[in-house]
Parts: sequence; structure tokens; C-alpha cells
Amino acid sequence: MSALSELYEEIALCHQCKLAEYRTRVVPGEGAENAEIMFIGEAPGWHEDQQGRPFVGPAGLYLDQLLASINLKREQVYIANVIKCRPLGNRDPLPTEIRNCRKWLERQIELIHPKMIVTLGRYSMAMFFPGKSISKIHGTAQKRDNTMYYAMYHPAAALHQQSLRQAIEADMLKIPSLLAQAETIKEEQPPQQLTMFEV
Ligand code: URA
Repeated sequence: MSALSELYEEIALCHQCKLAEYRTRVVPGEGAENAEIMFIGEAPGWHEDQQGRPFVGPAGLYLDQLLASINLKREQVYIANVIKCRPLGNRDPLPTEIRNCRKWLERQIELIHPKMIVTLGRYSMAMFFPGKSISKIHGTAQKRDNTMYYAMYHPAAALHQQSLRQAIEADMLKIPSLLAQAETIKEEQPPQQLTMFEV
């Protein structure tokens, strides 16, 4: 069994917060173990909770289209969320839930070791770009710890707002060249021990 599958089994046993009582399925994440790009959303919604897979509802179909615009299929990237269980009624995740779930995302990042981490929406952005505002930094990348961090709007928000839709589509198109330059771009800060920040 791969280290990633073992991790999924561990995540499925997690009962650290109340969300575990209400979930239909845990949604650990999915994609290629050797993916160069890792997309990180917020939390599973109803469709994801039913299927145990990330981004399979309307926002997921849109994410698939965005990936297709840069000739990628979801199987070629890795897709995860900040939290692994659906908050009831699709409410925003609570700080304690984010803290409880953080270790799983850290382990996924260690195992996948992507060249580029793309944050989708403000919850995942807050973990990698603390104190920043998404309207200011979307479409910009920062290199740290030998990894490119790139912030984008959340596909669910962009689906319903024309201006965000144009922004997310343009931001997606920048990914291939950023990835191609990843090795030559200089780090903006000295290496840090933590790649994720407290929210
Ligand atoms: N929104 C998210 O942030 N993640 C999903 O998996 C689905 C919708």
C-alpha cells in the first residue's frame, strides 16, 4: 500500500472534531502521487461528502474546465482541501477545525512534494499568505522552501461573479509558465521551517 493510501486510511479514522459525526464520507483528497501542482480548496460540500472525492460538484466541474484550459486533467494534479469533512450546511470552517485538520494537509504536502501549491479561496490562502487579501494577491506567486505558492479565487465564487470568473480564468493561464520558471525564480525570503501559517 502506498504511503498516500495509508494516510487516507488514517484520515478516515479521524474523529478529532464533531464534523466526523455528521460526515457521510471523509474527503481526504485525490490525484497523482507525483503531481507537480497541488490545488488546495476549502472544505467538502454536499457532493464531495456523498462521494468522498474533492471538487466533484459544480465548482469541481468548473475546476475541471479551468484545468483543461491549460491542458491538464485532474488525474495529473493533486487536489485537496483545508479540511477533510463537510461542515454542516456548508458553513465556513471554524478555526479549531482548521487547526485539527492541518496535520493531514501537512502530510499530504510532504508526500506529494509538489513544485507548486495553488490556493483556491481565502481559507487556503490564509495558510500560505498570512495577512494578505485575495483581491490583491490573486494571480501572484511567491517562492519559498523551494516551492511556488500561487493564490487564486475559489472556483465556486468565480462561477457566479463575472469579474472573478475573468480573473480566475486569466490566473489559471499563468500557471504553465510559472511552473516552467519555477526552478529559476529566486526565493523571496530565506528558507523557513514552516510552510503553513497559523490562521
Ligand atoms: N469547495 C471546496 O473548497 N472544496 C471542494 O472539495 C468542493 C467545493
